[in-house]
Amino acid sequence: MAEAQQVSRKRCDLETKKALFKGRDYITTQEYSEAEIEILLDVAGDLKRKFKGRVPHRYLPDQTIFLMFFDKSTRTRNSFEAGITQLGGHAHFLTADAMQISHGESAKDTGIILSSYGHAIAIRHDLIPGEGNAYMREVARWADAPVINMQCDIDHPCQTLADLMTIREKLGRNLRGRKLAVSWAYAPSYAKPLSVPQGLIMLMPRFGLDVVLAAPPEYALMPQTVAAARENARRAGTKFEIVDNMDDAFRGAGIVIPKSWGCLDTMGTNPKESLRIAEGYRDWICNGERMKLATEDALYMHPLPADRGNEVTDEVIDGPHSVVYQEAENRLHTAKAIMALTMAEQEVVYEMTGS
Ligand code: CP
Repeated sequence: MAEAQQVSRKRCDLETKKALFKGRDYITTQEYSEAEIEILLDVAGDLKRKFKGRVPHRYLPDQTIFLMFFDKSTRTRNSFEAGITQLGGHAHFLTADAMQISHGESAKDTGIILSSYGHAIAIRHDLIPGEGNAYMREVARWADAPVINMQCDIDHPCQTLADLMTIREKLGRNLRGRKLAVSWAYAPSYAKPLSVPQGLIMLMPRFGLDVVLAAPPEYALMPQTVAAARENARRAGTKFEIVDNMDDAFRGAGIVIPKSWGCLDTMGTNPKESLRIAEGYRDWICNGERMKLATEDALYMHPLPADRGNEVTDEVIDGPHSVVYQEAENRLHTAKAIMALTMAEQEVVYEMTGS
């Protein structure tokens, strides 16, 4: 387990940091190699130890990041805002409806102008399939600063990085042979983006996990993300499969991540349709009985917010399998690693656990 591992000093020297990270966008994990993701995780782990030990780590003095939200947030907004403050910088919280975007200002003009005032732009634009990722790529094309994806229609790379960090903290670095169940679950609150399950199925097979995706037929994910998951599993020598029921996904799983998402075809135009169809699948809930299908020591994870009583029972989310608060906390440390590595002028020296 991570707690028992040695701590060794490592250095992401300035040359390496500049070559791999400085000024680079963080839009999907697909654009980062396994080695680069390992560095992000190591730096996140080190920043976590520094934060808990109250060791100053001001890698970004006087730097500004612009946080542009087209959707609501608790964890993402506050992990970035608190994180940049702890790194010595400052965040501007921006909502699209209060910006000139609402009057039609272009992604090009927004990107050029904001990047001329500061050092990075982070964007959440996740509710309309086909729009969010394209929008942030257009901002990135013109911005003279890194663009960070705080969740789009395709990926939620800040969440999945925190999820991988959490899984490794609990289970160690070698995840070979372990099964991860990513499952759709019923929720009546709102049609949630598809980007969390898509991000999970793309990232986790690269780091040793055998991934099983379960969803009702109306909740199929974007074909390109499923194709990427298959290819990533093939290259990593892991497994990726799709099943049509929650029980098959949970059976023998060492990690379960059941959550709701909307229907790809109607998400952007009629999100209520996703909720109407979901009424036929109320039994897709993560409860104590279903957890018994997973391994005895299985982890229950959810990016939050969770629809308690619908996606998951209190018994499970508040029970011994649940690691949701550690998972949410790790959003802070991973967001800081992404900002430190893509924005800092200086080298980032860090200690890592393990060999
Ligand atoms: N998991 C997540 O992204 O949470 P928020 O929507 O609160 O940012």
